[in-house]
Amino acid sequence: MSYITIEGGNKLEGDIPLQGSKNATLPILAASVLCNGTVILKNCPDITDVREMLHALSYAGVRSSLHDGILELDTSNAVPCYFGPELAGKTRGGVLLLGAFTGRFGEAGMAYPGGCVIGARPIDLHCKVLRDLHTTLTEEEEGVFVKGKPGGGHVFLSYPSVGATENAVLAAVCAGGRTVISGAAMEPEVSELCRFLNRAGAKISGIGTRHIVIDGVRRLHETEYTITGDRIVAGTYLAAAAMSGGEVILRKTRRVCMKGIFESFRAVGARIYRDCDTLVLKAPDTLHSIPELVTAPFPAFPTDMQSQMTALLSVAKGDSRIYETVFESRFGVVTELQKMGADVRNRGRFALIHGVEKLHGASVAASDLRSGAALVLAAAVAEGQSKVYGYDFIARGYEDICGIFRLLGARIEITEEK
Ligand code: EPZ
Repeated sequence: MSYITIEGGNKLEGDIPLQGSKNATLPILAASVLCNGTVILKNCPDITDVREMLHALSYAGVRSSLHDGILELDTSNAVPCYFGPELAGKTRGGVLLLGAFTGRFGEAGMAYPGGCVIGARPIDLHCKVLRDLHTTLTEEEEGVFVKGKPGGGHVFLSYPSVGATENAVLAAVCAGGRTVISGAAMEPEVSELCRFLNRAGAKISGIGTRHIVIDGVRRLHETEYTITGDRIVAGTYLAAAAMSGGEVILRKTRRVCMKGIFESFRAVGARIYRDCDTLVLKAPDTLHSIPELVTAPFPAFPTDMQSQMTALLSVAKGDSRIYETVFESRFGVVTELQKMGADVRNRGRFALIHGVEKLHGASVAASDLRSGAALVLAAAVAEGQSKVYGYDFIARGYEDICGIFRLLGARIEITEEK
């Protein structure tokens, strides 16, 4: 298993660029199938989840090339296909191909995307929205199969699921008639998908609200689009400066929505501000604890920053508590932080943290993408050497995390093990 070696203790400061958003790119890759031609995506992150999705799309006749952040897709020869376990199980974004292929061809088939360590991650809401759009969806042993071109309708989401909202939008943009999605997720990545689709000829209004209205069009057309920066990766690098007493200037952050994240950095005493397309964070002399930090759907504090803030609060002064309301088991980072001397415990959906002066180096293992990033943060401020195993998890969402930490002054190396 590939791992990262870090000699911790340096102040982390510098001027770094921000990559494109993973969770905006994945639904837009699915949406490109609806464009039936050439799609050019700029500021596309070169990360494993994107590569996996492009690999899956190639089985459906989609050609693609990704160089220097520019992705060119040709979906003119796309055909419906069944995405088996070896394709559907690799990345969560794959489930969005259900909506896209149903929207374009009136048929889709996919093995169950499966859960992961952060939770069971069922797809009942995805199935519901596709049925609400008058398709025939069957759940079989081999997976989920959809038949029938979607018709406009009223989609009601009992929970603002990001993926289910995105699947509803993908299936509805070329449906016959008007679709209203009530209870929609409002995450910036959902809005980004809608903006991309409107550029390609869709008619979507209510973007960024719980109430999205879509008037179906006959077809979408070719387009090009620049992906917005990744707000969670931004939060991760801002945390590096906050935890190490440093200062970071983060570029390429125009349009990056930091709602819910900025508030958490201000709560720990960091000075943070936006200047044109740059975000700047200056660490406080001492990090403050947060009595209770709750993860919830946007615009609340995002679950994807929970592991990173658990690491940060483990070196803040005082007692903090994090309440994880989105995923049922997203505290994999806790046992690993304990190995580094953190005083943190997991009780059900809560992490109870008593800040310590210093962490010490240790060999630790990532169990998912964000716990991996959080362990890199902890290792970078710990005294001594750490090894963070599970680099492959981190590479799913972070483009060159070692290169970025090196620019910030960290002593960090990757050891690739085939
Ligand atoms: C998206 O996952 C993101 N992934 C996740 O980011 C993010 O944590 C999550 O939204 C919440 O913001 C991508 O966009 C590729 P959900 P998604 O549907 O769509 C339950 C990362 O680290 N649920 O909003 O799968 C589900 O189990 C990843 O970048 C159902 O019960 O999230 C969870 O408890 C991790 N039934 C909650 O809803 C369903 O049919 C939120 O899930 C769907 C979801």
